[in-house]
Amino acid sequence: MRLLIKNGFVTDGIGIHTGIRDIYIEGGVIKQIGENLSYQADRVIDAEGLYVFPGFVDAHCHLRDPGYEYKEDIKSGTLSAAYGGFTSVACMPNTNPVADNKAVITYIIDKAKKEGVVHVYPIGAITKGQKGEVLADIGEMKEAGAVAISDDGVPVASASLMRKAIQYASAFGLTVISHCEDLSLKENGSMNEGYMSTVLGLPGIPHEAEEVMVAREILLSEGLGIPVHIAHVSTKTSVTLIRDAKKRGVRITCETCPHYFSLTDEAVRGYNTNAKVNPPLRTEEDRLAILEGLADDTIDIIATDHAPHHIDEKDVEFNLASNGISGFETAFGLCSEYLLKTGVLSLERFVSKIAVNPARLLRIPKGTLKEGSAADITVCDLKKETIVDVRKFRSKGKNSPFDGKRLQGAVIYTVVDGNVVVENRE
Ligand code: DOR
Repeated sequence: MRLLIKNGFVTDGIGIHTGIRDIYIEGGVIKQIGENLSYQADRVIDAEGLYVFPGFVDAHCHLRDPGYEYKEDIKSGTLSAAYGGFTSVACMPNTNPVADNKAVITYIIDKAKKEGVVHVYPIGAITKGQKGEVLADIGEMKEAGAVAISDDGVPVASASLMRKAIQYASAFGLTVISHCEDLSLKENGSMNEGYMSTVLGLPGIPHEAEEVMVAREILLSEGLGIPVHIAHVSTKTSVTLIRDAKKRGVRITCETCPHYFSLTDEAVRGYNTNAKVNPPLRTEEDRLAILEGLADDTIDIIATDHAPHHIDEKDVEFNLASNGISGFETAFGLCSEYLLKTGVLSLERFVSKIAVNPARLLRIPKGTLKEGSAADITVCDLKKETIVDVRKFRSKGKNSPFDGKRLQGAVIYTVVDGNVVVENRE
């Protein structure tokens, strides 16, 4: 298959290609990027007026397979990812059984090869069963193909165990992704602690529940001189802590998710369980700090934390509802609306955060438009308006607080290994 993408505005996120270019793809590989290329191709995509990016890389999602296929499976999850413009996704280990060993990592990789629409990179657990007690077999998981380790969904409460995990993982060339949450501060909280939790009469989670753990990971990373990555940053003080740490040379990196820069705890009003997520949606002050953190590169990565749930797990009393937002299919629209349209991020810095930096974190050869690399490409329209309709989600998870929201900016084509897997043009 020979594919020619013509006349799109190409941004590779590293400043090598920025401008109107053609991309010629043969045998699944990018052969050439340049102006006015004249190749004979089997298919030509006219991308005039559209934007052409390296395929998005999601460093944090939940595919729920094995064990929770009623919420999502590798096929539905990767199709949803493709519709969101993601060509590679790293999935968290809170499956059943937990991805804390070679067998589960191998199962995910094999199933993704057979049924996956995009590339899948499993993240192994830090501790066996994600119980926070005994380290998982990190070397064995790395050998099987794990690209990072994390106990995402739950924190590693023991600082000593976390310190060992950071050391072991580093010896195997893996980075620890930390879910920062102090359960003694969280108690039985189910939303952000503050004005809204008081109005709604719901038990609150103080912002410090995240921040004390962010501070701990910064100190561990600093003491060991080993990089650590902080998952789903949601508060102003987390951003400040990470900014200050980076300034003094600590090798800490972090991500945030579209819901933290587009929503506040106001979204919970009416006991909307689709706005229940962990960490919880915060205040306007926090949201603005997240935007600032993105703008000044304190926040390196935009990840979805795609967390699909079954309707029965959301259509319940707020305190009992599962945490999570089905995030793949709204991610680009939200980035376009809140980051690009507003000028918070340039196109290039956006691409660095959604493709280049996540690939670096996971140490995978993705997020690039380099000639000779696999042709994973996302083509977007920044003008196209859509109204989010969860019934149209490819994901099994319809749990989105954005249902009915008008967003400007849409994914038009997703290309994986030179194959057009999404085509969204009227
Ligand atoms: O909201 C969340 N959902 N946060 C997490 O940390 C875990 C995730 C899930 O697995 O549903």
